[in-house]
Amino acid sequence: MELGLRGKVAIVTGGARGIGGNIVEGFVREGASVVIADILYDNARELAQKLSRGKAKVRAVRTDVTKKADVDNLIATAMKEFGRIDILVNAAAITQDKWMVEIEEADWDRMLEVNAKSVYLTTKAVMPHMMAARYGKIINISSRSGKEGMPGLSHYAASKFAVTGFTQAVAKELAQHDINVNAVCPGILRTDMWEKILDARSARTGLPREEIWAKAMETIPLKRPQLPEDITNVVLFLSSDVSRNITGESVNVSGGARVD
Ligand SMILES: NC(=O)c1ccc[n+]([C@@H]2O[C@H](COP(=O)([O-])OP(=O)(O)OC[C@H]3O[C@@H](n4cnc5c(N)ncnc54)[C@H](O)[C@@H]3O)[C@@H](O)[C@H]2O)c1
Repeated sequence: MELGLRGKVAIVTGGARGIGGNIVEGFVREGASVVIADILYDNARELAQKLSRGKAKVRAVRTDVTKKADVDNLIATAMKEFGRIDILVNAAAITQDKWMVEIEEADWDRMLEVNAKSVYLTTKAVMPHMMAARYGKIINISSRSGKEGMPGLSHYAASKFAVTGFTQAVAKELAQHDINVNAVCPGILRTDMWEKILDARSARTGLPREEIWAKAMETIPLKRPQLPEDITNVVLFLSSDVSRNITGESVNVSGGARVD
């Protein structure tokens, strides 16, 4: 299937590693240029240098997605460098495995700031450019936790439910400008994020990390973890005009663990 992404310009927050990093690679493979926005600037720059080739350029912009000034600078830099922004992928996020009895106010605030407020800030900043172009694709990486709360992840779930709801509302607002807004809800991927969850659960329960991982796998009907490229494939589809009649959706990529 020809996605027609050659020559498009995408911003990927959290693109320095993990799922975001794989999405950056996917865009480059399709011939799009990418701006990586991440707090891990050295990793982002290294990936940008590795991937810049041919007509597809990759740039790294040091960005803390919770800071309006950083986000405004990101959008201004992308516009200056490329003259347009066709696609925004919000992948930057954090997690923390804590039960409610342990969650402090600062934990709650940080979770909501990084995972939810950031999506407001980047969308707000990119919207005027997409509206002027009457073209845009915004893809938010939510989570299975954006549809279903799991123990140990209540503040994470609150932040991801926020992303899912925001996606639906903004999709309806921006439809009149021919801008599609969708979310992807990954299930379980063994990135740095899940390694941290395994550390916390192993410390809490005394169980070996691999036993906890195996139990998590048992909850997946297809009995396998999702891989970054599984998420990238859906993001590329939603970034293209092949999916032009899809907006406001939150697409599960969870091996059947979540089916709505
Ligand atoms: N790994 C999973 O199982 C899983 C499941 C469901 C959803 N997700 C979602 O997928 C996305 C990517 O997660 P991942 O597994 O690749 O995690 P990861 O920790 O490997 O990557 C997250 C990236 O976000 C960046 N980031 C964090 N805070 C930031 C900030 N303030 N400003 C800028 N960048 C910041 C990090 O530096 C990192 O590069 C996240 O939105 C996550 O919630 C992951």
